[in-house]
Amino acid sequence: MRRPIIAGNWKMNKTVDEAVSIAVGLKRKFYTFSEADVVICPPFTALSKVHEQIVDSSIMLGAQDMYWEESGAFTGEISPGMLKDVGCRYVIAGHSERRNIFGETDEDVNKKLKIILKHGMIPIMCIGEQLEERDNGMTFEILEKQLTRDLKGFAKEQAARVIIAYEPIWAIGTGRTATPQQAQESHRYIRDFVERLYDRETSVKIRIQYGGSVKPDNIAQLMAQEDVDGALVGGASLDVNSFTEIVENAVK
Ligand code: 13P
Repeated sequence: MRRPIIAGNWKMNKTVDEAVSIAVGLKRKFYTFSEADVVICPPFTALSKVHEQIVDSSIMLGAQDMYWEESGAFTGEISPGMLKDVGCRYVIAGHSERRNIFGETDEDVNKKLKIILKHGMIPIMCIGEQLEERDNGMTFEILEKQLTRDLKGFAKEQAARVIIAYEPIWAIGTGRTATPQQAQESHRYIRDFVERLYDRETSVKIRIQYGGSVKPDNIAQLMAQEDVDGALVGGASLDVNSFTEIVENAVK
């Protein structure tokens, strides 16, 4: 069976001290924890210090983004090697905020996924539709387009290592979660499409997280869906108690 994976995307929040204090709190709860992969993605400035706190625990470190070049004249950017150096094992790529606010394209996401895998890290690739697209019945078309372009040129062994995060944009930070049925419908579609792109073995292996207003009181129902393998949590991952409850309720 697919191992559950709960990740916290802290976005542009928390100073180093605040981040360390959350890490310390989570470490108390998940020093050893075998029922799911637990990942936290603090801002770049806090990665190193948070890593020092969690390095001997079962919590893993992730970054929220990076650039696809190894080094050079790319002012303001962070390379995959730099992330590896500070202990990152996961990197989020193609979050809707990157796509919509910073103009990131599917081609950019494809380059990022490639280099993340090349460095032995695991990409969390975000896809999802806007409200207008859902209302116009275009959800599946959007998901197909993103999957096809983002995974372009990937062998099935590479694709199987990618974590897909289905994040319907209308559910992010809005308090409006997709119903478990809506999540399941999209997750099933994504898994079936991965089977069409690759094969059944790959589609059965690939892990698909749901993201968008995940909270302690809705995670269990989401996780009860056959094709929901975890969650990418924004706001509710900024608090030790709520993220802890989410992880605990996810594996109950
Ligand atoms: P919220 O959980 O705050 O809706 O954010 C979801 C998200 O964008 C995670 O990447």
